[in-house]
Formats: sequence, C-alpha cells, structure tokens
Amino acid sequence: FSLKKHNTFGIEATAKQFASVHSVEELKQILQENTSQKKFILGGGSNMLLTQNIDALVIHVDLKGKKIVEQNDNFVLVEAQAGENWHEFVLWAINQDFGGLENMSLIPGNVGTTPIQNIGAYGTEIKDTFFSCEAINIQTFETKKFTKEECKFGYRESIFKNEAKDQFVITSVVFKLTKQKHKINISYGDIAAELTKKEIVVPTLIDVSNAIIAIRQSKLPDPKELGNSGSFFKNPIIPKSDFERIHLLHPEMPSYSVSETEVKVPAGWLIEKAGFKGKRFGDAGIHKNQALVLVNYGNATGQEILNVSKDIQKTVKTLFDIEIEAEVNVI
Ligand code: EPU
Repeated sequence: FSLKKHNTFGIEATAKQFASVHSVEELKQILQENTSQKKFILGGGSNMLLTQNIDALVIHVDLKGKKIVEQNDNFVLVEAQAGENWHEFVLWAINQDFGGLENMSLIPGNVGTTPIQNIGAYGTEIKDTFFSCEAINIQTFETKKFTKEECKFGYRESIFKNEAKDQFVITSVVFKLTKQKHKINISYGDIAAELTKKEIVVPTLIDVSNAIIAIRQSKLPDPKELGNSGSFFKNPIIPKSDFERIHLLHPEMPSYSVSETEVKVPAGWLIEKAGFKGKRFGDAGIHKNQALVLVNYGNATGQEILNVSKDIQKTVKTLFDIEIEAEVNVI
C-alpha cells in the first residue's frame, strides 16, 4: 500500500498493511485483532519523514466530528475527533466566534496529533487552549483521559513524545475557548504590520486568522505544491552561558530569552548563515523563504532528505557549536 498521499513530504514508501478506522470501536477492534502485529499509527502525516517502507500494520486514524460539550457566558469546551483537519477545525471555531486557536491557522495536520508535539505558531501553542484528550492504550485497549497537566507540555514536547511514546492512540481532544473577551495576540513578528497594511485597527478573530494565513503563505510552502513537513528542526534552547560565549563570536545572532538560564536561537537563522537557504541537492532542498523547512521537489527519497538534514546539522555544529535537533519524526 503506497503512503505517498499520506505524508505531506510526498515520499514514496509503502506499508505492509493499511487500515483506516472511522470510530473508536473500529479502532479498538483492529487493535484487538492484531495484537501480535507491529503497528504504526498515522494521522495527517504532516510531521514525519519516511526513510524506509513500513513493515507494520499502518492504522490511519480517520475519526470525524466536532461538538460543543459545555459552555457558559465566557467559555466553551469543544471536542474534536482526532481525524478532523486542524485548519478546518480552527475555521469552524472562528466562525462561531470561539477564540484561542486563530494564531494557529493553516498549520497542516489533524487534530489528534496536535498534542503530541504541542504544535504552535505566532505566539500561541496548543497547550494554551488544550483542556483534555482521550486516548486508547494500544496494549490494553482501555480508554484513558489525559488532563493538561498529565500531558507535560513543553516547547514541541509532551508525554506522548516521551514516557507515553507509542503507547496510545489519541482519539479526541477538548479545547477551552473564549466566547467573549478574546485574548487577541498580535505581538509576534509581522502580524501587527500585516493588519496595519489592511487598515485594521481593532482586529477580530477572523482578521488575525487572515493576517496569519497571509504571512504563512508568503513564507511557508504549501505541501500540496511542494512536499514538506513545516519546520524540520526545533529552535535550539541552549544555556545562557554558552550563548554568551558564542554570541561574542557572532554578535549578529538573534535570540529569545526562555528562562533565567536558557536562551532560544532561531535555527532558521543558523541554517541561513550556514549557506543552505534555497539550496537544492537533487530533489531534496531547503526552502528559499524559510531555511527551517526542508522540501521535496518531486522524487526525493526520505534518505536523501535525511542526508541533507544531517549535512545541515554538521555544518551548523562546526560553525556555531550549536546542535540542532529534528522536529519531525524520522521513521
Ligand atoms: N530566520 C532567518 N532565516 C530564515 C528563517 C528564520 O534568519 O530563513 C530567523 C529570523 O531572525 C526570524 C526568526 O528566525 O526573525 C524567526 O523566524 P520565524 O518567525 O519564521 O519563526 P521560526 O522560529 O523560524 C517558528 C516555528 C514555526 C512557526 C513560526 C511562527 C519552530 C520549530 N518553528 O519558526 O512552526 O510557524 O515560529 O510562529 O518552533 C512548524 O513547527 O512546522 C512551524 C512552521
């Protein structure tokens, strides 16, 4: 079974077996019937690089549905099934004037995978509106509810990438959104400038969403046109003392303070300065507008893209003595 259409990098790789599940019951049943089989859980395929064929039963989580579970005058709890497309869900919330997700407009992928790496963009992360999620234990088939605290969210991190890795299938997520007094956040990067360009003084949720869509479209390649997985690397967080030493050698290096003792450095800047931005190696390359994004020009293999990523890591390490770590799941 070809997985080319199931990964946004557009890599040609196959699955030994493939099954789409459309309900929690169906998911439990397939897990129960295949206890001895190796299993691979697939969502929107927007955060993985396939470097080989998958010798397992690929379970495509295709649960659909969204609903309001509780509300008062100020807040609403909305539940979305794991297979809902993230951006469509964001637009659905905005259309009902539910606030909190607008800064994460146009992020590729499905709702069910958003908690795994605590997706984020333009000053907001999933953890800011996340309320809880439900997941099925792959071994015991039991349903478990995870509260926000239990998810142990961090920058592109959660329990699902660590202690609970490969143990659960997230089936639905509940978000707590505002019904009034929306916390409009336009402090990141170019959002304010984009709104000014349109002469918007008091932005609504849809204005913020539209501004972010415009910014993303100007910088980030559309996976439908050019295979990619968004940021390939995480922005490295390094000890402040290391940063101060490195900064003496590279005074123009940008940084953001994370805590008293840690500093985040934009990996895009490091990669651009290392000379990789816009470079192409066969069908694998580095996007011309955002150096953090690796792209597949057509027929790159996962291995070719992985090799480019390793080359970037090595060069950045040599030039700046900073290690950058992949954000996407390398399979
Ligand atoms: N920069 C460069 N050259 C580049 C790219 C970036 O010099 O080619 C430097 C600039 O100094 C710029 C800074 O990096 O000011 C930050 O760039 P940008 O605002 O584009 O954000 P980012 O840190 O590169 C992160 C997320 C993106 C998210 C944006 C906006 C990570 C790994 N990436 O990128 O998320 O959209 O912020 O919030 O944290 C993703 O995770 O797939 C993703 C696209």
